[in-house]
Amino acid sequence: MTQQISSLSDYKDAYKRSIEDPELFWATQAETFHWHKPWDKVLTWNFETPEIKWFEGGKLNITYNCLDRHIADRGDDTAIIWEPNDPFGGVKSYTYNELLESVCKVANALKANGIKKGDRVVFYMPMVPELAIGVLACARIGAVHSVVFAGFSAQALADRINDAEAKMVICSDFNSRGSKSIPVKQVVDDALAKGCPSIEHVLMDRNTGGEVPWSESIDLHWDEQVDPQDGFCAPEIMDSEDMLFILYTSGSTGKPKGVVHTCGGYMVYTCYSFKNVFQYQPGDIYWCTADIGWITGHSYIVYGPLLAGATTVMFEGVPTYPDAGRFWQVCEKLGVNQFYTAPTAIRALMARGDEWPAKYDLSALKVIGSVGEPINEEAWHWYDKHIGKNQVPIIDTWWQTETGGIMLTPLPGITDAKPTYCSYPMPGIQPVLVNADGELIEENDAEGLLCIKFPWPAIIRTTYGDHERCRQTYFSTFKGMYFTGDGARRDSDGRIRVIGRVDDVINVSGHRMGTAEVENAIDEHPNVIESAVVGYPHDIKGQGIYAYVITDGKAGENFEKEVLAVVTKEIGPIAKPDKIQIVSGLPKTRSGKIMRRILRKVASGETENLGDISTLLNPEIVDEVMKGAK
Ligand code: PRX
Repeated sequence: MTQQISSLSDYKDAYKRSIEDPELFWATQAETFHWHKPWDKVLTWNFETPEIKWFEGGKLNITYNCLDRHIADRGDDTAIIWEPNDPFGGVKSYTYNELLESVCKVANALKANGIKKGDRVVFYMPMVPELAIGVLACARIGAVHSVVFAGFSAQALADRINDAEAKMVICSDFNSRGSKSIPVKQVVDDALAKGCPSIEHVLMDRNTGGEVPWSESIDLHWDEQVDPQDGFCAPEIMDSEDMLFILYTSGSTGKPKGVVHTCGGYMVYTCYSFKNVFQYQPGDIYWCTADIGWITGHSYIVYGPLLAGATTVMFEGVPTYPDAGRFWQVCEKLGVNQFYTAPTAIRALMARGDEWPAKYDLSALKVIGSVGEPINEEAWHWYDKHIGKNQVPIIDTWWQTETGGIMLTPLPGITDAKPTYCSYPMPGIQPVLVNADGELIEENDAEGLLCIKFPWPAIIRTTYGDHERCRQTYFSTFKGMYFTGDGARRDSDGRIRVIGRVDDVINVSGHRMGTAEVENAIDEHPNVIESAVVGYPHDIKGQGIYAYVITDGKAGENFEKEVLAVVTKEIGPIAKPDKIQIVSGLPKTRSGKIMRRILRKVASGETENLGDISTLLNPEIVDEVMKGAK
């Protein structure tokens, strides 16, 4: 088991060692796992190209470490507790023994259908146990999983399938979310109808039951394929730097890119961070409310907890169904000890009133966490008072799809916590602030751009199929550093607060979205000539989506609704603009670039201090944009 920090002096000591001799530090952690062959070299790195290798030459299988390794000591302990959408639906649990057998059966079914090491498999599924099992089954045989959040549209799904050149899609029939039933298989069929030539099969799990479209040549039933299989499948022996998964995420330009994580480093870092950040102790019940469609679900529902031999809760539903007490009712029922959610959920529940958490016994909680976006002071205090009863440490964890694991966070009960601050780096993480010219900001009580100057084991290795894009996006802005895209402030004691993105990425309800992506979707409407999308402060979502749209003058009275429908079709409902303003032009520089700074200010309700507009090609438009602001 990786080491666990238990005091402030432990943290300081671990941090110091991790900086003075990172290779020794991480090798010591890595040695606690099962390697089929030890590594030849701990670290090779170059942030220019970039090329980063951890535990080169080492051979392992991450599922052996998640499952087989625990069987002797804790085979009958609970690995996964699944809480269904329906509060009376019945909890389902898997012990480590049962999970290993289920994973092996699916792994054998995948093999029987031609999936082998290196093949890509896309998942498009709700939060059912089969999703975690399927992901682990891929890792068992060395296939690369790429989970697509089941709220994305058929078009978005097709784009990801094609970028990954996936051989198989694994889906469910329907998805139950709150009172809704969502036809998941139909979306997969719609995606394939757009042209996904690499797909050979669709493996469908019967989740709710019900009629679905069926193609005998492509579609396979999960039960028919999985049930007859043998309950053991030998783990494929992987190189430490073999690909484990691809996860698509939005950037400031173009289509979402496939962030690639590899086996060895990701395993070491997710386990180490899970154990330390949540201070998990054997027997604890840990619940992260994220969806496995996002990185948080990968690292802190599936891999981190299972590597640590923990009991991890998977929740199918939503925080407000059947009522706004659901999270707290589940915490009470399961005796949750560590609870990890997003600020957007905290704000939404805060708005429903203090009486909901007051109804339930939350005394088992030992750690409460936040992730995905900045947590505002009001939400932080509400979480502290009404969920933690002013006694449970809050951990505000900052990290990204690309970082693989938690980078900045207080350690509960060990380092101090200050509202809205992610505070301190994890051991092995070397954050720096730089100014726009890339010069290091050494002093405290300062703001700057957040970079990381040394690799950690779970750092992104490449963007799938386009290494140059990875170099450009993360390693070219500031020489010799990984650039996060975030702006941050460091207080006088050295704690870090992440303020938000400084690029054209917005964070809506903790979902990361490229403004260009939303603009491209809006531009698909036949009456739209041009659009510009910016984020603005939103009470619940953190940021809302504000779209400025130039039309051809022929848009009908349902135009706004049609725009929402187009965006839903191109990306999914999560990308729908909250506000749409029709304008006759957009403020542009003489070189034709949209001046987003002005649009952001107007969207935020600011009408003064718009800054210098004299360099605009069309300064007169600013007045019109301001007058029409919503
Ligand atoms: O802007 C930061 C914000 O979320 C971005 C990463 O989004 P994603 O890759 O989807 O991963 C989210 C879950 C790890 C970051 O660039 N972000 C994430 N956590 C925080 C945060 N901003 C402020 N505080 C946080 N705790």
